[in-house]
Amino acid sequence: MTETQLRDLLVKMADSLFARGFSVGSAGNISVRTPDGGYLITPTNSSLGWLDAARISKLDADFRHVDGDKPSKEVVMHRAFYTARGDAGAVVHLHSTLATAVSCLPDVDWNNPIPPLTPYFVMRVGRRMPIIAYFRPGNPAMESTIHAAAKNARAVLLANHGPVVSGKTLTDAVYAAEELEEAAKLFLMLRGSSPRTLTPGQVDDLLETFG
Ligand code: 13P
Repeated sequence: MTETQLRDLLVKMADSLFARGFSVGSAGNISVRTPDGGYLITPTNSSLGWLDAARISKLDADFRHVDGDKPSKEVVMHRAFYTARGDAGAVVHLHSTLATAVSCLPDVDWNNPIPPLTPYFVMRVGRRMPIIAYFRPGNPAMESTIHAAAKNARAVLLANHGPVVSGKTLTDAVYAAEELEEAAKLFLMLRGSSPRTLTPGQVDDLLETFG
């Protein structure tokens, strides 16, 4: 995909997330690798519902701002995924309500709070999605913690803040962020009712079949 096509797709997918309530106000940010080795990232304080393709921030291969509006304050959060995961082509950070609710619960397993309830959660998000300790938004200190976790996880939940999800492509990352929000909804709906989860064998089968 050309950079122009990526800009247009980013605007379209961000608008779709905003329209369906996955993001409110100026919450959330999205980045994608460009064919020249750089990155596009949403500008700071921009609404995902009102992006202008020409004003999206452009970063070079070293994550330096080279064009467009001032980038998101969360560049380090995105950089942590790109540097940890060679397969990450895009990163989506949201404050989506139900995944964020899970990130606030005191009694969940921080190594993997949401069990494998459905195949698409496993296929999109993977086997494991840990919770990361709370950091103030934009705090550069979060980078090393997220980087370490991202080596073994396609997505993390930032405590009391929200999800950060990577994908091979922009579409993959957005679909995974949506699937995570639905899995969080199911998890919260089923809390206290001992639901059946997928077995380890079923999870292995999904990951072997769909990657
Ligand atoms: P930016 O507006 O700087 O992208 O920050 C929004 C956000 O979601 C902070 O976590």
